[in-house]
Amino acid sequence: MIKQAVRNQSGTEDLVTCSPRVLELLDMTRRFAASSATILITGESGTGKEVLANYVHQHSPFAAGPMVTVNCAALTETLVESELFGHSTGAFTGAVAQRQGCFELAAGGTVFLDEFGELPLPTQAKLLRVLEEGDFQRVGDGKILKLGARVIVATNRKLKSEIVAGRFREDLYHRISSLTLHNPPLRERLDDIPLLINHFLTRFNRDALSQIEGVSDLVIKICQEHDWPGNIRELRNVLLRACLLTDSRVVTKLELPGTFPRLARFDDEDEPSIGSTSLSLSEIERRVILKRLESLHGNRTETARTLGITSRTLRNKLAEYRRLGHVG
Ligand SMILES: Nc1ncnc2c1ncn2[C@@H]1O[C@H](COP(=O)(O)OP(=O)(O)OP(=O)(O)O)[C@@H](O)[C@H]1O
Ligand SMILES: [Mg+2]
Repeated sequence: MIKQAVRNQSGTEDLVTCSPRVLELLDMTRRFAASSATILITGESGTGKEVLANYVHQHSPFAAGPMVTVNCAALTETLVESELFGHSTGAFTGAVAQRQGCFELAAGGTVFLDEFGELPLPTQAKLLRVLEEGDFQRVGDGKILKLGARVIVATNRKLKSEIVAGRFREDLYHRISSLTLHNPPLRERLDDIPLLINHFLTRFNRDALSQIEGVSDLVIKICQEHDWPGNIRELRNVLLRACLLTDSRVVTKLELPGTFPRLARFDDEDEPSIGSTSLSLSEIERRVILKRLESLHGNRTETARTLGITSRTLRNKLAEYRRLGHVG
């Protein structure tokens, strides 16, 4: 079970890490953030690209200004250009009033173009021009407006493959990729699992989603064996589900999804499988109590509390185990 097992070293509430690799990335991030240059954030889905974009903003000279996010996916060419650059009245069908785009709204702050690999090719050309020239025009309006915001772009697509497939402009790639921050997948930063679990449990408790005190050591072990294709988002969702399913104050492996690979390997290892037909109820209870006592370094008060029994009950049970010779 973990409780404040590892101290958060990242320095912000929303971004927790103690992984040397990520701490190094954050160091590089702060250095990049100090400039006003465009930054590219890459990484698989759920690795925290948006969280890192916020970190850039907070550590940049633009921190006092707004941060405006545009999700570039699933928008038609006309709509995405209107989102980015704004439009004048009558610029296209439906443009009944003039509108400011995110580049204008983010003046003095940061524009975050999320899912940026999905921009239509003509929009990519316009964006390249904006980044090169440092100015832009609203759709349907000739007036030149100055770009007063730092631009961050993020994608989970492999842009080099997108270029080969003809879906992404190579010149735009070269314009944005010199300051690239790559978020490693969770399976390459497994040392962060205890800290992340602790972070999410604290969040759920704070938001009154649960009243959980921790997870068993075995849960941590299993989580450090899982591949996490959905990365940190998947970890959050798995934990939330587990917290909602458990009847006790501690999450055990029983609340993890049955689809978790290699779960069976841990059966009877150090937490008894409740499904095992060879164990009696009292034997299961004995193993759970002794294991919990061990993981809490012999602290009886904590052991009783986390198991939901009184200290007196625990004392009696331990005395019985000693009498039966089950405990050294
Ligand atoms: N270092 C971190 N510490 C704590 N929580 C994190 C961290 N990184 C990511 N998260 C959490 O993980 C979830 C996914 O993060 P985020 O949305 O930033 O990922 P993403 O890479 O943008 O994903 P997608 O590509 O699917 O948009 C969020 O709930 C976020 O709060
Ligand atoms: Mg995202």
